[in-house]
Amino acid sequence: MAHDEIIDRYSALARAADAVAELRHGETVLDLGSGGGIDVLLSARRVGPSGTVFGLDASPAMVELAQRNAEQAGASNVRFLHGTIEAIPLPGHTVDVVISNCVINLSDDKAAVPAEAFRVLRPGGRFGVSDVVTARALDEQARQRAGQRIGCAAGSLTVQEYRDLLAAAGFVRIAVTLTADHGDGVHSAIVHAVKPAIGPGLEIRPMRESDAAEVLAVYQAGLDTGQASFETTAPSWEGFSASRLPHLRYVAVDAGSGEVLGWVAATAVSSRPVYAGVVEHSIYVHPGCQAHGIGRALLSAFVAAAEDAGVWTIQSGVFPENAASLSLHQALGFRVVGTRERVGRHHGVWRDVLLIERRSAVSGT
Ligand SMILES: C[S@@+](CC[C@H](N)C(=O)[O-])C[C@H]1O[C@@H](n2cnc3c(N)ncnc32)[C@H](O)[C@@H]1O
Repeated sequence: MAHDEIIDRYSALARAADAVAELRHGETVLDLGSGGGIDVLLSARRVGPSGTVFGLDASPAMVELAQRNAEQAGASNVRFLHGTIEAIPLPGHTVDVVISNCVINLSDDKAAVPAEAFRVLRPGGRFGVSDVVTARALDEQARQRAGQRIGCAAGSLTVQEYRDLLAAAGFVRIAVTLTADHGDGVHSAIVHAVKPAIGPGLEIRPMRESDAAEVLAVYQAGLDTGQASFETTAPSWEGFSASRLPHLRYVAVDAGSGEVLGWVAATAVSSRPVYAGVVEHSIYVHPGCQAHGIGRALLSAFVAAAEDAGVWTIQSGVFPENAASLSLHQALGFRVVGTRERVGRHHGVWRDVLLIERRSAVSGT
């Protein structure tokens, strides 16, 4: 069967693949659990000869079948890999788009899948998969009934579990769109997410415990400029960690050395339910690494992650003399609420603080 005949046979799938991934010429694509390879062949046509599409499958028989289909179709820009989606046999930062159809719900280690997808994606790379999800946790009977009606339902995650796993891996702009309703709260869904964008050789990822010393060193270097905060000494890691929300902490790192070059984190402003969507953030970029767009990339990622997490207002305080921080925040939608005049003493000098805030247009509307 010729390439175009195979594509035509799967025209419905072709429409789905287009809708899910919006592939562009020249991109590198990875299909998780590629089966017979139809989505790989469809994607290969979309990315053209300058692009590459990898299909990954744990079944050697499926890899062979997909290879035969690719040969029949005359597709030269595809490669089929034998391996698992929990340990993807590709180096980091090599893929522009991860796609998948009806596979992730089958995984025994669901947290590993988004973590691996995040690793292999380049900054700014996209995750666009179709899968089966549940609107709420299913009891065993409902799960079995759903499993008899539709494949891919046996290990399906709830929408919230899917979102949480993607966020924990470091993805932002997470959207789960329900498509078909299969009853019992089981739905087909298209899941989109993005790995935070940042300049070449850099990466933004969630902050880890093992980053502690470097995060605090960047913090101290920022405090030493005298323009970042009234504080003069960075806290202990325990103090830092206890006061920050666990889920909204990111670092910008050198992708080669892993060195932490900047970080952003947030605290809750109040325990009152009415302020549940209001956080106060701090962002620090090592003074030796400014003007590389790291602050802008970190803050953009943080805003997107905060909105994903349901935050509607991000607030902070900035010294009026810190023009770079002020203009960065204003460029990303923060406004100056007012000036707290001579509100605190810093190295013996009374200083003003500008209160800034960003009200989301998409969260808490
Ligand atoms: C339901 S089929 C979907 C195939 C293809 N995506 C499609 O839409 O036609 C699931 C595929 O995922 C593969 N698979 C299941 N678990 C996997 C894993 N952990 N790692 C890699 N492949 C896996 C299976 O071998 C099978 O080919």
